[in-house]
Amino acid sequence: MLKDKKILLGISGGIAAYKICYLVRLLVRQGAEVRIIMTPAAAKFVSPVTLAVLSKNEVIINMFPENKDFSSAEKISTGTWHVNLGLWADVFLIAPATANTIAKIAGGISDNFLLTTVLSSRCPVLIAPTMDDDMYKNPATGRNINILKEFGYRIIDPVKGELASGLSGEGRMAEPEDLFNFVSDNLSVNRDLAGKKILITAGPTIEYLDRVRFITNSSTGKMGFEIAKAARNRGAEVTLISGPVSLSDIEGVKRINVKTSREMFEKVKSNIKNKDLVIMTAAVEDFKPSAKSESKIKKEERNKFIFEFEKTVDILEYLGKNKKGFKLIGFALETENELENARKKLVRKNLDLVVSNNLNTEGAGFGTDTNVITVTGRNKSEKFPLMSKYEAGNKILDKYLKLK
Ligand code: CTP
Repeated sequence: MLKDKKILLGISGGIAAYKICYLVRLLVRQGAEVRIIMTPAAAKFVSPVTLAVLSKNEVIINMFPENKDFSSAEKISTGTWHVNLGLWADVFLIAPATANTIAKIAGGISDNFLLTTVLSSRCPVLIAPTMDDDMYKNPATGRNINILKEFGYRIIDPVKGELASGLSGEGRMAEPEDLFNFVSDNLSVNRDLAGKKILITAGPTIEYLDRVRFITNSSTGKMGFEIAKAARNRGAEVTLISGPVSLSDIEGVKRINVKTSREMFEKVKSNIKNKDLVIMTAAVEDFKPSAKSESKIKKEERNKFIFEFEKTVDILEYLGKNKKGFKLIGFALETENELENARKKLVRKNLDLVVSNNLNTEGAGFGTDTNVITVTGRNKSEKFPLMSKYEAGNKILDKYLKLK
């Protein structure tokens, strides 16, 4: 799977360094070539010998190792390892990335081999912050992580759990399997969305009839989640507002869970600031009961239910009317006159692009891993063949980048 891929691992001094041994095994087993740089502090947590054996390569710690000969210009290439390695790698993962290493990268400091190599690397740089909960929540760390995001580096968010200090909280490094998936996702991907902030909605909404009953639809959220993954892999900072779905969180994507169309509307409004693009894939319920019973409706009380429904707020239309500084992409699920209806929607809701799919087409619509989409802009439409939702997401993002 990772045959001939060149992976550079930077390890800084945190207890989670021990997990990297297992990650190295996973990567090497999949055919990757792994080279490792450790900070001097990292070498106190895990043995460079272990990592050298597992990676089948020498581990670099010192900028000027004593056993290297830097005495002549002829041998100078040894002295420019940091540049060579930075150019060599297809992807550079720094894990664990301590608060100190993160702060130094944010400040452009290069006082060890790992930091010097970061400055000269041209490949995607992935950073897995790992530290104690309080250190992670410190405003200085928050600011430094934001600076790294602005540089286009991908942050692998730490998870909540038991920490080395005995405390429990945020700051625990992602598990080796998650790091592995992150690395594979980021290989040979064009980072053409670096610096872009994208808001995506996904999944259904539910609208309550009483405390326990609701109406909803069969959207599974897959399309929105796959676009979020694709955008993340291309370097975007992604916020995903999701209705109730059974999909896992996506590493590096900020996920906000909502239930009703009203909650989704509120979260869209409070997260719209500074966004470059909004993609509304959510199957927002078009109608909701006019009045919700605050208690559970008892069946003894009636022989039939009669409910009055009213329209929910059209979030996409609201965004179209209040479009300032961001592009807007809507979805249309049609059963007939797909193109004509899509064009009408584009104009009526003031969209930049509308993505339509037809419920009658095999492999398209809710619940499938594939889709058959047509992307319509102001002047033309393009229909794509059957493809995975991830690929379809990339096509939509390609179209966004071509918008004027
Ligand atoms: N949408 C929304 N708010 C709603 C309903 C829909 O933001 N209350 C968004 C969806 O996220 C999607 C697009 O609008 O991007 C779908 O447009 P819509 O006109 O609702 O299409 P349909 O649901 O297919 O409805 P229609 O029967 O009018 O075609």
